[in-house]
Amino acid sequence: MVKLNVDLADRSYPIYVSTDFSGLGMALRAARLNGKLMIITDSNVSGYYLKACTDELEAAGAEVYSHVFQAGEKNKTLDTVQDIYRQLTARRFDRNSSLIALGGGVAGDITGFAAATFMRGINFIQIPTSLLAQADSSIGGKTGVDFEGSKNMVGAFYQPRFVYINVKTISTLPGRELSSGLAEVIKHGLILNAEFYDYLKHSMDKIFSFDENTLQYVTKMNCSIKKSIVEQDEYEGGLRAILNFGHTIGHAVESACEFSLLHGECVAIGISGAFRLAYRMGMLSMDEVTSVEDTLSAAGLPIRAPGLEPDEVYARMLQDKKVKDGRLRFILPKAIGEVISCTIEDERLIKEVIRELQ
Ligand SMILES: NC(=O)c1ccc[n+]([C@@H]2O[C@H](COP(=O)([O-])OP(=O)(O)OC[C@H]3O[C@@H](n4cnc5c(N)ncnc54)[C@H](O)[C@@H]3O)[C@@H](O)[C@H]2O)c1
Ligand SMILES: [Zn+2]
Repeated sequence: MVKLNVDLADRSYPIYVSTDFSGLGMALRAARLNGKLMIITDSNVSGYYLKACTDELEAAGAEVYSHVFQAGEKNKTLDTVQDIYRQLTARRFDRNSSLIALGGGVAGDITGFAAATFMRGINFIQIPTSLLAQADSSIGGKTGVDFEGSKNMVGAFYQPRFVYINVKTISTLPGRELSSGLAEVIKHGLILNAEFYDYLKHSMDKIFSFDENTLQYVTKMNCSIKKSIVEQDEYEGGLRAILNFGHTIGHAVESACEFSLLHGECVAIGISGAFRLAYRMGMLSMDEVTSVEDTLSAAGLPIRAPGLEPDEVYARMLQDKKVKDGRLRFILPKAIGEVISCTIEDERLIKEVIRELQ
């Protein structure tokens, strides 16, 4: 088992990276959590991992309850949070109790928000089971739900007491979800660590055959990159924006295709777009663009979305809630492993690049 520490003063917490659930009891004791526990999981993940986690936690002497919600982003709502509050009230949970998110980013975001708000905050634990959640959403303390069609409209920054990752859980993920998570993993390498990107480029076979050592190394590197950014910018005041690499175009593609593509698939198209913008601005070579696109393809990701309408995608980019004063801000690669943030006012250039992504 590998242990990393997220250093956030009195909100610091460990991330454990393991190949099974056998260290859960130890993690619970180390965090000095001795109240009631409720595992919140979805209808897909519950069949795979709820029993194994419950058994481990009960063996450590905990009183464990569980609540299963219907899987899917459409249930990332206040209604699902209210169902959790009802369960917690019925079981007489108090400030000493803990909520555990077992599942992907949806379970993590809902459970974290419920934990942040029930009785003004009870303990929160993350057991992420999708690659996206292990690489990205379980670390950093962003929690929340969608509201009236707007993603993540209601939420809170709320850090977990610990994150426990069993890297082998991703072996039961549907293939497209696995690839989608890999987009964020590749993104981490591209923004901050060229060596890690290179490792990924040459390890796709091992990742797809779920080689334990490879998965553990990839997860450790991922978590250390994400945690280093969060440590420097917990509340998204500046630096954390580099995590948006590939997302300016990616989010617009996601809404333009009406969510028929997964988030990571749109991020892959967005990364390709960011590289193509940087190429046209003379920041890197076409060889580098092609090499990154090849890596994304090898990860099972699309780099084009046939039918993309440049005018529509451009308009959607301007609607993004992160756009200020109508100026589009991009995180662009300066080299592999290094990005810069810049505003591009040349509408024609942006639309030309979107056309290349068709
Ligand atoms: N909080 C953050 O910082 C942050 C960051 C990125 C994304 N997010 C959020 O995360 C969500 C996306 O996360 P996601 O892609 O994990 O979605 P998800 O939780 O819906 O999981 C994707 C699918 O995989 C299934 N699944 C999860 N783990 C599995 C496993 N081990 N075996 C089999 N099936 C499994 C789920 O049931 C679901 O059907 C979005 O709501 C997004 O807004 C949050
Ligand atoms: Zn993302």
